[in-house]
Amino acid sequence: MPEIKVLSEHIRNKIAAGEVLERPASAVKELIENSIDAKATKIEIEISDGGHSYIRVTDNGAGIPNNEIKKAVMRHATSKISSIDDIFKINSLGFRGEALPSMAAVSRFEINSRTKRKNRAI
Ligand SMILES: Nc1ncnc2c1ncn2[C@@H]1O[C@H](COP(=O)(O)OP(=O)(O)O)[C@@H](O)[C@H]1O
Ligand SMILES: [Mg+2]
Repeated sequence: MPEIKVLSEHIRNKIAAGEVLERPASAVKELIENSIDAKATKIEIEISDGGHSYIRVTDNGAGIPNNEIKKAVMRHATSKISSIDDIFKINSLGFRGEALPSMAAVSRFEINSRTKRKNRAI
């Protein structure tokens, strides 16, 4: 047998991505679930080539604050749970923090987001 070695993070991410995203439709499903979790009431889906060459999902949900966008594409980063107890009372479609990093590992990936401005000066 070849020597046992620990796979690099790059390879680990690609393997994990294969588990989350079997086909382009899986990416669309994950993105729509995120939109629903963000309380969107309008979700727009654009695809080319059956989703193989292009997928864009746009929603009018809560959005991701600017300073959290980098975290959103990190593996196991989620805003939906923060403790083990939360797992037993899940009220969101996602909670594992795996969809966006998986997509980012196997595609050219871009997020544009904005949130509602709080305390806007009059
Ligand atoms: N469409 C979206 N609107 C607002 N926040 C989003 C959206 N998509 C992703 N997010 C944020 O990015 C995080 C990571 O998303 P994801 O990788 O799908 O993990 P999960 O949905 O399991 O938390 C979410 O927890 C959420 O905070
Ligand atoms: Mg998700």
